Amino acid sequence: MVKTQSVRASLDKQPHEVASMFDGVARRYDLTNTVISAGQDRYWRWMTRKAIDPRPGERVLDLAAGTGVSTVELGRSGAWCVATDFSQGMLAAGRFRQVPMVAGDAMALPFADNSFDAVTISFGLRNVADTDLALREMLRVTKPGGRLVICEFSTPVIPGFETLYMEYLMKALPRVARAVSSNPDAYVYLAESIRAWPDQRQLGRRVADAGWSGAKWRNLTGGVVALHRGYKLGG
Ligand SMILES: C[S@@+](CC[C@H](N)C(=O)[O-])C[C@H]1O[C@@H](n2cnc3c(N)ncnc32)[C@H](O)[C@@H]1O
Repeated sequence: MVKTQSVRASLDKQPHEVASMFDGVARRYDLTNTVISAGQDRYWRWMTRKAIDPRPGERVLDLAAGTGVSTVELGRSGAWCVATDFSQGMLAAGRFRQVPMVAGDAMALPFADNSFDAVTISFGLRNVADTDLALREMLRVTKPGGRLVICEFSTPVIPGFETLYMEYLMKALPRVARAVSSNPDAYVYLAESIRAWPDQRQLGRRVADAGWSGAKWRNLTGGVVALHRGYKLGG
């Protein structure tokens, strides 16, 4: 049985703190997401699937997949999609979903080199202690010619909107989370970690520096979220 507790990680993202924070969030994770994003989460997942464009017969890794909600969306394509996460609580909360799940750490993936046609990570990379190591691990397990899609919170690009959005993140969101989540403190971490996260250009550079080719991004919902892409040379 997974023990749940009300913890929040600090911004140095110690893996044991992050994993236990998500264990505590797991029970009402999917519902809380939909409430705090005003339903936009479904649109972001749909756009992520379109960007990956998984095809029947392909093998896709959904990294930091949590409850597998993102993996289910990918599986609609007919590709074989596996959910990997290091929070036992998140994986357990998604056990009812008909997707293969493998416990694993993004910084030391339990997969052989060149295993996947595509690798994706939604709202996960920001929580990994070593972003660059995770980007390199994803490259290692991707087949030559394979692709990467990162869906992550980013920096709003509409003038004036950023101030409003930061007010929502830092003040309203923790209050909404208190009403809905099984671990409201985690949503204070969410707000702070979004604020501290690199913007589109900086993350794009890190994706390229990790060895991904053709690194580019597009904004969703005015830059609240960005989809970053790249592919592994060869193939
Ligand atoms: C915000 S949730 C995202 C879940 C899902 N991808 C989604 O879109 O709803 C972030 C997930 O990242 C996972 N995570 C953070 N660091 C990780 C690591 N080093 N290895 C594997 N999973 C990690 C957490 O356990 C958590 O389930």
